[in-house]
This record gives sequence, C-alpha cells and structure tokens, in this order.
Amino acid sequence: MVFLNTQFIKKDQACISVMDRGFLFGDGVYEVIPVYQSKIFRLNAHLKRLQKSLDSIKIINPYTFNEWSYILTKLVNFSSLSNQSLYLQITRGCDTQRQHNFAKLTPTIYIESNPLTPKSKSILEQGFNAISREDIRWGRCDIKATSLLANVLYVEQARQQGVEEVILFRGKKITEGASSNVFMLKDDTLFTHPAGGNILSGITRDLVISSAKACQLSVQEVAFSLADIRRCEGLWISSSTREIMPITLLDGATINQGKINQHWHCVYDYYQQLKYD
Ligand code: PDD
Repeated sequence: MVFLNTQFIKKDQACISVMDRGFLFGDGVYEVIPVYQSKIFRLNAHLKRLQKSLDSIKIINPYTFNEWSYILTKLVNFSSLSNQSLYLQITRGCDTQRQHNFAKLTPTIYIESNPLTPKSKSILEQGFNAISREDIRWGRCDIKATSLLANVLYVEQARQQGVEEVILFRGKKITEGASSNVFMLKDDTLFTHPAGGNILSGITRDLVISSAKACQLSVQEVAFSLADIRRCEGLWISSSTREIMPITLLDGATINQGKINQHWHCVYDYYQQLKYD
C-alpha cells in the first residue's frame, strides 16, 4: 500500500498527472524516515526538517504534525515488516500548462514504505570504499529537494567504480556525500561540515554529534579537507538508511591504515541504543 493524496491505495494503481510540477521540474521536497520495530524513528526531527524545506520553496504544509503521524503510522502498520524506510514526497502540484512561474496549487503528496535492512556491525567493521569528486551542486543543499540530478550522477559514478559513496568537496572543503553526511576523526575530535546551504543537515548527523559527545568526543562543526583526511584516524558517513558507516579506503588510499578507530564502536553502539529507547 502507498499513500497518494488523501488515499491509501495499491502502488500499481498510484498515478499522477503529467502536469505535476514534480514531474516537470522536480519542484518538490522529500523525507526518508527510518522505522525500527514498527516505531517511527525521530519523527519530530524529520517533520521539522520537512517544514523547513516546504517553507524554503513556498509550499504550504498540507498536514499538521498529528495528521502526518496518523498517516505514517497507518502506512507502517499495513506492512508486516518491523524495519522500514518511509519515503515521503510533496510536490507543488498540477498546473494547466508547463510554465516556470507558479500559482497556488494543491500539493501532491506521495508516501511509500520500503524494507530497511541496516548492515550488521560485523559487516560495517570491515570498512567501505569511497571516491571524492568536486561538488557541482547548487547553493541550497539544505533543502531536501527531489531535484537530485547531480546526486544521481555521483551515485552512478560510485556504482561504476564499485564504491559505497562519493565524497564531495567544494574548493578545499569536504561538504558531504552524494546521499550522506561526512565526519572525520582526528586527535579525539570529530569534525563535520557546518550546517548551511552547502549540506543537507542530516537527522543522523545530529544523532552522530550527540552520540559522539556522549562518548566523550569533542565535536567541531568545522570543515576539513582531503589533505586532512590523509592524516586522520577515521572517516565516517551517516544517513537514515546507512546509519554510521566507516570509510577505510578513499580514492584508493587507506584511512587510518584501514583500521576502525575505537571511537566508532562507542558512537555506533550509542546510536543503536537510541533506536530502541
Ligand atoms: N539521503 N546529505 C544528503 C545529500 C542526503 O541525501 C542525505 C540522506 C543525508 C543524510 O540525511 P539523514 O541523516 O537525514 O538521512 C545527507 C536520504 C537517505 C535519501 O536521499 O535517500
């Protein structure tokens, strides 16, 4: 079952108009929300970020917090899976003809649920590969917009190279991954690019920061460079679906001699425990 504009229907019956601005312009925003043991994880934070994205592109939020919570919970309960990933998208809606300027339209709301299978700790401990590329995206990466062409092309490069993620840099500064935030561990301090137009402020990013503090790590929201990474003790990516993943090989060079730093274990374990609080 999926949710489309006030209704729960079968996915193969869900249709939208070719005049939908989401289809024509990628004119919409979205959220990806994890569900563990049938409980929606950090719903508040996700709906807050959704509100910010909607405000940024001038779409009026069609539902209240309680209404969203009711719809999402109902969708979660349609599935027998206890771990799920909810995909929620709101586009500006359907116009009468394709035109860049927009009038006040009725937003199109679409939600689906997919299985969520986070990698086990023993798999994560083996470490993952990444490549770095110049960040060619626009300056409003803080909006969780459905227009993701650059990200899609990065992910295709990652697939071609057989790596987990593409880590992006603007000038000397690492911004984030193609679909994740990036952290560097150095001298018992965790660094990550500050929030703002150059990154999506991840919900998992916030949880990594609070988990790191609980693990007595100092956290600095300060950008770091590819040169810093060469001498670091750990490189991690984070997202709602990948959680906290250690990168041990970047552009073919090992990070921290391929070893997972002990701080990752503490932060990872702390995060896992938050999921079932
Ligand atoms: N993406 N940065 C980018 C560019 C992302 O696409 C994502 C997540 C994140 C991490 O955000 P969060 O911790 O809230 O998941 C950072 C989702 C998972 C996606 O597009 O599927």
